[in-house]
Amino acid sequence: MAEIVLKLEKVTKTYIMGQNRSAGKAYNAIRKYHKKYESICAKNDEKLEKKMGKTLERAQTAFAKEKYELAYKTITGKNLKKNLKDKGVVVHALNGVDLEIKKGEMIAIMGPSGSGKSTLLNALGLIDDVSSGKVYIDGILASKLKAGKLPEIRAKKLGFVFQSYNLIPTLSALENVMLALRYSGAGRGERRKKAEEALKLVGLGDRMKHTPNELSGGQRQRVAIARSLVNEPAVIFGDELTGELDTKTSTEIMNLLIALNKKKGQTFIIVTHNPEVAKMCQRTIRMRDGKIVK
Ligand SMILES: Nc1ncnc2c1ncn2[C@@H]1O[C@H](COP(=O)(O)OP(=O)(O)OP(=O)(O)O)[C@@H](O)[C@H]1O
Ligand SMILES: [Mg+2]
Repeated sequence: MAEIVLKLEKVTKTYIMGQNRSAGKAYNAIRKYHKKYESICAKNDEKLEKKMGKTLERAQTAFAKEKYELAYKTITGKNLKKNLKDKGVVVHALNGVDLEIKKGEMIAIMGPSGSGKSTLLNALGLIDDVSSGKVYIDGILASKLKAGKLPEIRAKKLGFVFQSYNLIPTLSALENVMLALRYSGAGRGERRKKAEEALKLVGLGDRMKHTPNELSGGQRQRVAIARSLVNEPAVIFGDELTGELDTKTSTEIMNLLIALNKKKGQTFIIVTHNPEVAKMCQRTIRMRDGKIVK
């Protein structure tokens, strides 16, 4: 069986907008408890871990059903005073997501707008903190990593391709790709060589000196892919990476990803609205209202 590179356990991400005070209080209590729970998890006290895990789950389930008073009481043992002016909006962007991703998988994430696809991708990629639950990368609990280490882990193990490409306009394609190697410890000559190889791999060997505005949309997307590949990360994330491209170019880009997936065994996780793109992946995860439905 292939090893698991990313794993989510009961991950939630909640936004509290406006003035919902009971929700805010319950949410803060849950977060505090969750922090305590994670420090217990690190200590190997299985009995306490199990007990706290159960309490946490009960409170979160209540919270997800918008029973904020009950959630607060479960965690603190105290009653929450209701407030007449207690209005506001709570968004459950992720609502108890469990997911395992194996090495070498190619996965599409689909679902209606606002269903939590980008939030899920950001949680998997350690870009955005989750409200509760556990995120593991290569078997390591992400919250156990020192915050200062995160950028390095992200740069070495995880690669990102965004719809907006995020290329630096004043730098050439080659320099943009070389920038991704800043944590690699390699010297300038070696960084250059690696960046050139990555650009050749995506078919841009003859465009390395061009700046982003001298490239077409598809070519820019390929630079962004080369940049995400150059560190040979275990996992590459794409948020609608073919979204702005025409059908022909997006099929080309997908074929490129499939070739890389086969050749290097890298894991790809792609958010897409395009069923044709999803069809080219091995597995499709469907989201609705912050949950995985299929
Ligand atoms: N910073 C934020 N503050 C409040 N709510 C947010 C924030 N970011 C996202 N949300 C909400 O969380 C939910 C999930 O958002 P997300 O961006 O993950 O959706 P999505 O599935 O990627 O949608 P799309 O297909 O439109 O990109 C949405 O209801 C959104 O309004
Ligand atoms: Mg999105």
